This record gives sequence, structure tokens and C-alpha cells, in this order.
Amino acid sequence: MSIYHAIKSDHVKLKSLLNELVELEKDDEYRMTLVEDLGKHLIPHIRAEEAIFYNTLRGVNADKKLLFHAFQEHIEIEGLFRSLQVLDKFKLSWLPTAKKLQNLVFRHIQDEEFELFNEAQNAFTEDESQLLESSFQELKLKIEHDGIFKNSFEMVFNMLPPKISSKMANFVKKDELRP
Ligand SMILES: [Fe+2]
Ligand SMILES: [Fe+2]
Repeated sequence: MSIYHAIKSDHVKLKSLLNELVELEKDDEYRMTLVEDLGKHLIPHIRAEEAIFYNTLRGVNADKKLLFHAFQEHIEIEGLFRSLQVLDKFKLSWLPTAKKLQNLVFRHIQDEEFELFNEAQNAFTEDESQLLESSFQELKLKIEHDGIFKNSFEMVFNMLPPKISSKMANFVKKDELRP
């Protein structure tokens, strides 16, 4: 399999998860599972894509503006995804953000599969594109299993509020709590 097939097959999965998400009713509880599932596919995909595909393209002097734009869109995509997680945790309106994310991801995928694939096909041989594919899959698995994609967001939201409040109580003197 080539890197192009691997990336395309991830894109099919991401598009289908996003389509499913935006079609949910506003208060459908299933969205929490779906958002979590989306993150499990989205974050390892973009991290491995940056590390293996974009960085290798950078090394062969592909169009720098195109690559920078793609990196920038990953940042925007991840930002919207993190916002979606926060909105969901606070039970705030999440549908407009989900739609925004869907639009951006769809556009990004289209650019990637046309412009970046074109750059890559001019730069890599068939063998190289297969080597890239195995590195891409390997890194994605590593990210999924080691959880290195987990950052402070997951840590913060996995904290238990009572734990935080009891810790806080140790730092605040009782007198200071009086009005
Ligand atoms: Fe991408
Ligand atoms: Fe992608």
C-alpha cells in the first residue's frame, strides 16, 4: 500500500464520522461517544501526517507555501476539535462548531489529496511511497497506543472536581473565606 492509499482511507473514516456528527440532533447523548471517537482518529492522523508526510515533503523541497498552509490548517482543525470537546463537556451548543470543523476538514482533505499528493507523486518513487506508508501506520499506532496525543486538555478534564476543591481548601485559610 502507498502513503496515498493510507491517508485517503483515513480521510474516508474522518469524513464519515463528521457527517454522522453534524446529522445528530442537538441533544443526542451519542455525540459524546462520537466526539471521542473522532479524536481517536483525527489526532493520530494529523500528528503522523505532519511527522511522516509533511516533513518528508519539506525535505524534498516541495512547495513551502502549500506545506505551511497545510500545517496551519492542522492547527485550526485541532483548535476547533478541542473547542468541540470543551463545548461538549459544558453541555453548550456544539453543532455550529461541528459544522465549522466539518467544512474545514473537508476542504483540507481536498487540498491534501490534490495539491500535496501531486507534489509528493512528483518527488517520491513507488518504493518510497510504500516506505512512507509503513512509517505512517507505525507512528499512528504508536500515538494511539502510547497516548502521546493526550495533552493537558485530557488531563484537565479527567481531574475530579472534589479532588481539586479539597486541595484548594488546604491553601485557603478559613478566615479568608468569611465575607
Ligand atoms: Fe492533513
Ligand atoms: Fe489528512
